[in-house]
Amino acid sequence: MDATIRTERLVLRRMGLDDTDFLFDLFSRPEVARWSGAGKPMTERAQAVERIEAQPGRAGDHPACGVFGVEVGEELVGMALLVPPPSSGGGARDDVEIGWHFHPDAWGHGYATEAARALVDRGFSAGFEELYAVTDPDNERSQAVCRRLGMTDLGLRDDWYDTTTRAFVLAAASGRGSDQ
Ligand SMILES: CC(C)(COP(=O)(O)OP(=O)(O)OC[C@H]1O[C@@H](n2cnc3c(N)ncnc32)[C@H](O)[C@@H]1OP(=O)(O)O)[C@@H](O)C(=O)NCCC(=O)NCCS
Repeated sequence: MDATIRTERLVLRRMGLDDTDFLFDLFSRPEVARWSGAGKPMTERAQAVERIEAQPGRAGDHPACGVFGVEVGEELVGMALLVPPPSSGGGARDDVEIGWHFHPDAWGHGYATEAARALVDRGFSAGFEELYAVTDPDNERSQAVCRRLGMTDLGLRDDWYDTTTRAFVLAAASGRGSDQ
């Protein structure tokens, strides 16, 4: 499966250590870090290196899955993920999640939704029957992306990340989502 995905405005491609400055800038911003992991902004560049080095493990073994840098005109503007979400309690599940983190300067252009649609297509082409999105219950901007994708709101769920999330699902049978 191709490692690079092109959409009308975006290129999605694998990330590497050359992307450390971008990733550090992204996750040193409280408005981005708040919704990711421990919720604290990065303060050391080494944290960004660690996160990039963890990406292959995060993506798991399926060739369709990955953590992608998202470029507009060869500049990174964000990240989009097609990954197995960690199950609460460490139990075995075979769910697949789509996710997104964009630089605040790139919000409000529809880039996250466009990147996510590309990963929805990739996931369904790879044979996944359902794709989940797992959001902080207060993360309204992320939930708006889920709605733009035509995902169904599952409400509060404790299945992943050892915490309560507001989850959304899109089934392959329901098509590619809305065109909004
Ligand atoms: C969540 C996040 C990715 C959403 O980004 P976003 O830019 O709001 O989302 P979209 O890509 O769907 O863009 C939609 C917006 O672009 C606007 N837009 C402008 N041009 C557009 C176009 N050509 N096509 C589509 N939408 C367009 C839409 O009107 C909408 O604006 P609004 O926010 O004023 O309603 C972003 O807020 C973010 O990175 N947050 C921090 C990290 C985070 O929360 N990650 C999720 C963890 S679960």
